Amino acid sequence: MKKGKVDALLGIVFGDEGKGKVVDCFTPQYDVVARFAGGPNAGHTIIFEGKKFVLRSIPSGIFDEGKLNIIGNGCVIAPDLFMAEAKELEAAGYDLRSRLHISKRAHLILPTHRVLDRAYEAAKGKSKVGTTGKGIGPTYSEKASRTGLRVGDMLENFDQKYAALKARHEQILKDLNYTDYDITDEEKLWMEGVEYMRTFPLTDTEIEINKYLREGKSVLAEGAQGTMLDIDHGTYPFVSSSSTICGGVCTGLGVAPLSIGEVFGIFKAYSTRVGAGPFPVELFDETGDKIRDIGHEYGAVTGRNRRCGWVDLVALKYAIMINGVTQLIMMKGDVLDTFDTIRVCVAYEKDGVTTTDMPYDTEGWKAVYKDVPGWKTDLTGITKEEEFPAAFASYIKYLETELETPITIVSVGPDRAQTIVRNK
Ligand code: IMP
Repeated sequence: MKKGKVDALLGIVFGDEGKGKVVDCFTPQYDVVARFAGGPNAGHTIIFEGKKFVLRSIPSGIFDEGKLNIIGNGCVIAPDLFMAEAKELEAAGYDLRSRLHISKRAHLILPTHRVLDRAYEAAKGKSKVGTTGKGIGPTYSEKASRTGLRVGDMLENFDQKYAALKARHEQILKDLNYTDYDITDEEKLWMEGVEYMRTFPLTDTEIEINKYLREGKSVLAEGAQGTMLDIDHGTYPFVSSSSTICGGVCTGLGVAPLSIGEVFGIFKAYSTRVGAGPFPVELFDETGDKIRDIGHEYGAVTGRNRRCGWVDLVALKYAIMINGVTQLIMMKGDVLDTFDTIRVCVAYEKDGVTTTDMPYDTEGWKAVYKDVPGWKTDLTGITKEEEFPAAFASYIKYLETELETPITIVSVGPDRAQTIVRNK
């Protein structure tokens, strides 16, 4: 961590890499923690002082007094869900208003955006994206088509602007023949959320962050989702609608590329994906079920079963390239403790063609594997690198060599203490 720089902490596959725990270990070092993309589609589980919190829109530095947390302009925010999340933290005794600033440029998710999310998914039939249903796609679409409402709009003539946009949405829903919805209760809560949000500092966060950087303060940009869900570089159209990559840190916070310091790329010792879309390493057998059970791979937002597979070097190399990852963090090594053999996807194959470069369309490609021996040892009690079983140490070495990037942190269990910083 360098003073005056923004370090990025990014999930580099399909999200759910376990950023919550890492952010929790990282935040004490930083002056500012900022979210730059996504919204309540994310769900970071954080255990703080024995209590479990699921953060969706609020950055993970919120538990530390004296730290500024920012919801940046690249985010989308649902006032009702924000209120629920924030009130839970307030009830636990955290004073939010002194620690959390929200960008006036962040876009608002309306109740009708959520209805539109469902309507668009229904209209897609078999090619559904499997969204989280939080209205993410419709909100970002309207940001791009310049018809959305921003947090700053809450400060002037809001009711009028809201009514106009809602009427527009109702017309679209009518045109789609999607009329069987009732947002009465939801809208009431949403309006309460707007009132509640107005009591927070709604600011020009890009100016604040740059001021902090000039003062030599350190900023952690906390990613959401993952590189393969990025709107440009993910498995389009089975992606989320924001820039989840390092480039998104610049646009989503208003910081210049040269202010980026370290880029931490988080991945798991295996792969998971929620929702629809190509996933060449997916296991449909009992091995996949075993990984899901041991790794508790169920969605934090929707509770859906996560699809599971072996680690994917094609995706990881692509993500390292796109993000400029400087250090890798490998999570959940312990989930593979009982496997005799560990498989690593080294290439994709389709119709006799083999590639190690991420194809334009990953549909129909099959994984080509290299097998390495399992370590067959319980890793969860390990506290330092020197205690790694030889097969685990050589699995890490193999990944580092292939990925040409150091793995500087290895996690072997959910607890903070089960985080091993390597001697790099
Ligand atoms: P949306 O972001 O709700 O539009 O969903 C688009 C796709 O991204 C779906 O496949 C979701 O399952 C996936 N997705 C969105 N947020 C997350 C996340 O935080 N973790 C994993 N997958 C996500």
